[in-house]
Amino acid sequence: MSELRLRVTETTDLTPTVRRFALQDPEGLTLPPYEPGAHIVVTTPAGHRRSYSLVDPGGARPREYVVCVRRDGGGRGGSVSVHDDVAVDTDLVVSMPANRFPLRPSPRYLFVAGGIGITPLRAMVRRLRAEGKTGVRLLYLTQCAEETAFLEEFDGPEDTVHHSDDGGLLDLWPYFAVPDDDVRIYCCGPAPLMRTVQALTAHWRMSRIHMEEFAAPHSGISVPFTAVWAPDGRRVDVPAHLSLLAALRRAGVPVTSSCEAGVCGTCRLEVLEGEVDHRDSVLTEREKLSSMLACVSRAKSTEIAVAPHLVVSQYSSADD
Ligand code: FES
Repeated sequence: MSELRLRVTETTDLTPTVRRFALQDPEGLTLPPYEPGAHIVVTTPAGHRRSYSLVDPGGARPREYVVCVRRDGGGRGGSVSVHDDVAVDTDLVVSMPANRFPLRPSPRYLFVAGGIGITPLRAMVRRLRAEGKTGVRLLYLTQCAEETAFLEEFDGPEDTVHHSDDGGLLDLWPYFAVPDDDVRIYCCGPAPLMRTVQALTAHWRMSRIHMEEFAAPHSGISVPFTAVWAPDGRRVDVPAHLSLLAALRRAGVPVTSSCEAGVCGTCRLEVLEGEVDHRDSVLTEREKLSSMLACVSRAKSTEIAVAPHLVVSQYSSADD
C-alpha cells in the first residue's frame, strides 16, 4: 500500500463537530488522481488509521485532498486525534486514493445522505452538476441545521434537506415506491438509514442500488476454526463470535490494529497454511494469496497458520 506524506494547509469548522481539512504536497506538486467516491486512509497523530471520503469531485491532477471529519467522542479515538492533534502545517501520512464506491453512468440519480455520509455524495453531486447534468436529486437527512455540513450548497430545486429535530423522521417510501431502471440510488450514512434504504428498495434491480459501507461489507456466517500462531506453534481456538484478532489477543498474542473494520490494513498477517475467507476492503488479489486482515477475515479451512506480516516479509519477496 503506497503512502504519501501531505501537509495540512487549511482547517475549517463546518459545524460544531465537523471539521474540514485540506491536504497538499509540501512541495506543491499535484497529487495522484481520484474520482468521486474515492477515499484515503489517514494515519492520525495518535497512530490510528482511518478511512475518510474525499469530498471534492477530484480529477486527473488534483492540487489537494479534502476530507471532513466528524468528532466522535464516544468512538475509538481516531476522529478525536484528528480534531485535537491536527492543525495547519501538520504533516500526515495518507494512503493513495482508492475507490470502492464509484460513480457509474446513469440517466438520472437519487443520492441519499445521512449526516456525515454526505461526504462522498457531495463529490458525486458536484461533479455531475458541474458537467451540466440534470436529474441529480439529493435527499440529505440530518438532525438539525446547525449540524448540517455544506448546508448552503444544497438549496436547489432538486435538493431536499430534512432535519429530524424539526420534522421528525421523514417518510422515505415515496422516494422508492416506484422502481425506475433509469435511476441509480447512492446511499451513505449511519447503519439504520442504510438498512432502511436497503429494505425500501428491495423491489428495485440490485444493480441500481449503491451503498457506501464504512466497514468492509461481508456476508455469510462465521464458523469456529483453529489458528496456529507460527512463531511459537501456539494453537488458538477462534469461536464464531470472536474475530481472529480478538482470539489471538485473548491468547496473549499481540497484534496491532487500528480501524478493526477491515479498511486500514494495520492488522495484516501472513498466511502460511490454510484457506482464507477474505472480508476486507484493503488487500489486493495478489496480497490475498499470502495475507489476511485479522480483524475481519476468517478461515475457510478448519485450521489456519499465521505469522506477523513484517517478520515474514523480511525474508521473502513479499509484494509490498
Ligand atoms: S485493523 Fe484495520 S484492517 Fe484490521
